[in-house]
Amino acid sequence: MQGSQQTAALMNAVYIERYAKNQKPKFGRLPMPSAKANQVLIRVKSASLNPRDWLLMRGIYPVKKLAEPFPITLGSDMSGTIIACGSAVKALTVGDDVFGMQPIKGKFGALAEYATIDASAVALKPETLSHNDAAAIPCAGMTSFQALRDLAKLKKGEHILVNGASGGVGSYAVQIAANIGARVTAVCGPTNQELCRNLGASETIDYRLENFETYQDKYDVVYDVIGRSSPKKCKNCLRENGRYISTIPSLSMAFQSLASKILAGFRFGGGRTAHLILVKPHGNDLAAMADLITSNKMKSLIDSTYPFDEVYKAFDRIQTWRAKGKVIVEISE
Ligand SMILES: NC(=O)c1ccc[n+]([C@@H]2O[C@H](COP(=O)([O-])OP(=O)(O)OC[C@H]3O[C@@H](n4cnc5c(N)ncnc54)[C@H](OP(=O)(O)O)[C@@H]3O)[C@@H](O)[C@H]2O)c1
Repeated sequence: MQGSQQTAALMNAVYIERYAKNQKPKFGRLPMPSAKANQVLIRVKSASLNPRDWLLMRGIYPVKKLAEPFPITLGSDMSGTIIACGSAVKALTVGDDVFGMQPIKGKFGALAEYATIDASAVALKPETLSHNDAAAIPCAGMTSFQALRDLAKLKKGEHILVNGASGGVGSYAVQIAANIGARVTAVCGPTNQELCRNLGASETIDYRLENFETYQDKYDVVYDVIGRSSPKKCKNCLRENGRYISTIPSLSMAFQSLASKILAGFRFGGGRTAHLILVKPHGNDLAAMADLITSNKMKSLIDSTYPFDEVYKAFDRIQTWRAKGKVIVEISE
């Protein structure tokens, strides 16, 4: 495919032309992107939504200054087929089915018929994994995969509490922790207690009835997916050397995370540490997660699936904060 033809051709895409609190994304024609040397161009089959998509749309995404100029095509997670490779891409080829995510530092573009993505940020999609199940994994799945492996260093037999267990990030966390052999307590709403037990939680807490922060020396790890707690509030419920992990970037969490890295326990007492996860796109981590799914040790929990031209409904759904797992948009056959 000629580069000049790629830039001239138009494709359907979901985009914004400004930031606004109450807007819906636009569905229309935008120029097709073309792959840089280290990128692949993907014919997108399925994409999944993440809170970062609507946070950006509303203008409250923490690093929106790093986003590309308007119009910005939304979407981070995708699964599809490679139709062109940049000159430096050696390990992938046209026709490969792959899935991956854009880096959280301001890159988007998955909610379109065609998207470019760094070759290092994708993994080959196993044949037995559907495009919908693969598109569900990247941002939410890898956040939990990297948080539990690299920050919590969660071990078999340890007790982890997952706050926000029934959503995209939390549903993967419960399953990854259960696979490690940890004891999992899932915090979720009243209608999701059984769902979380089926994902591998041995105990559940309905946050409307019970406050886990009031317990004493109970958890080795508090994984606060939804960011409603804090290191200070978890000081009592965490055991000695316990780890508090948040997904929500704030100045306070960044500072406490840094303090914990430099001098464990400095901010927190009893060797307890606080960490902020910032997910990094990594093909090898995606491949490891796909392995867990194809060997039936984990699944992508799909909340709902929408056709491309009903993407507004997908945005309405994810903005409720009530999704049970991932919201999927089917882009093409
Ligand atoms: N730092 C990073 O690298 C990174 C990466 C990915 C995501 N994130 C952030 O992580 C957060 C979660 O993302 P997500 O994809 O999991 O969102 P999501 O799927 O939209 O979360 C929906 C879930 O939140 C739960 N929830 C709502 N209020 C709750 C409460 N008070 N207590 C416990 N659970 C509650 C709901 O459970 P119930 O219906 O059962 O109440 C629902 O299942 C977002 O803020 C996102 O921006 C950060």
